[in-house]
Amino acid sequence: MVPFIHHPVLLAEVLAHLRPQAGQAFFDGTCGGAGHSAAILQASSPTGFLYACDQDGDAIAAATERLAPFAGRFELRRLNFADATAWVPPGSCAGVLIDCGISSFQIDEAGRGFSFQQEGPLDARMDQRTAVTAAAIVNTWPVEELANLIWKYGDERESRRIARAIETERKMRSIDTTRQLASLIEQVCPRADQLPGRLARVFQAIRIVVNDEMEVLRRGLVGAFTLLEPGGRLAVITFHSLEDRLVKEFMREQARDYDLPPGQADFPHLRIPRAPRAQLLTRKPISPGAAELATNPRSRSAHLRVLEKL
Ligand SMILES: C[S@@+](CC[C@H](N)C(=O)[O-])C[C@H]1O[C@@H](n2cnc3c(N)ncnc32)[C@H](O)[C@@H]1O
Repeated sequence: MVPFIHHPVLLAEVLAHLRPQAGQAFFDGTCGGAGHSAAILQASSPTGFLYACDQDGDAIAAATERLAPFAGRFELRRLNFADATAWVPPGSCAGVLIDCGISSFQIDEAGRGFSFQQEGPLDARMDQRTAVTAAAIVNTWPVEELANLIWKYGDERESRRIARAIETERKMRSIDTTRQLASLIEQVCPRADQLPGRLARVFQAIRIVVNDEMEVLRRGLVGAFTLLEPGGRLAVITFHSLEDRLVKEFMREQARDYDLPPGQADFPHLRIPRAPRAQLLTRKPISPGAAELATNPRSRSAHLRVLEKL
């Protein structure tokens, strides 16, 4: 196994917005290698407390080691952040962080099956206790549904051709490895200059579905907001436009001064006045600066949004 290495993204910006202080409690819903978690505990010394979770067993092992110097000041669980409300007391946290997506370790460890660059099982589960792998989806989903998922979550315009190629291949042999899927896509779309982006989009789309990432984020944001005390801050880092749009809309909804009847579009005459629940601290998302991009190119698509609960 490769060593667990992940550079926490937008670390200074996260700390500047969460402003950890001694005596406060925090929740990190995606602790990964615990880079952000350790920094929050350090900044809230000597009495700050951290609830931290990750759904990946390898991440929990790495975080346990990394957080050992803070023994007694944190609780770490292998858990989906969407389920944190059953664990972390509501209204208890001065800050919550959700750093979406996968870690560098998960990409670099071929055996986890996230990377199209290395041969590995077609897996892509963040939580290896769950049943549905990327191979199960690729080998069993109807071709139209495969095309839709590649289009919807990968924004890939060759989605139909790729789905049809998968269908043809799997009639002959099952598609079990990352390179097997990648070479299929290479054959369908041979333009070398477009290939890396295309492979990334298709693998991202499958990963999102394997881990039900959009629905989990939707539920997770609602739960995370309930964990905050008044004045507490929610910081969310996203890595693609679908996630960022969801976070932006959730935060705007908390900050506005009206509700809408369920399922209705936003027309002024339908608005039901209420007090805002939060204040947006980032009207536009914060992106990594040149220095961070130079040392960690994988941070290039990161967007940080923060709100403060009223
Ligand atoms: C970008 S990394 C976070 C890195 C971390 N902030 C650090 O400093 O090392 C994302 C992590 O979140 C985890 N993750 C993603 N979605 C999750 C979810 N719904 N519940 C729990 N963990 C999740 C992944 O397994 C991965 O370890």
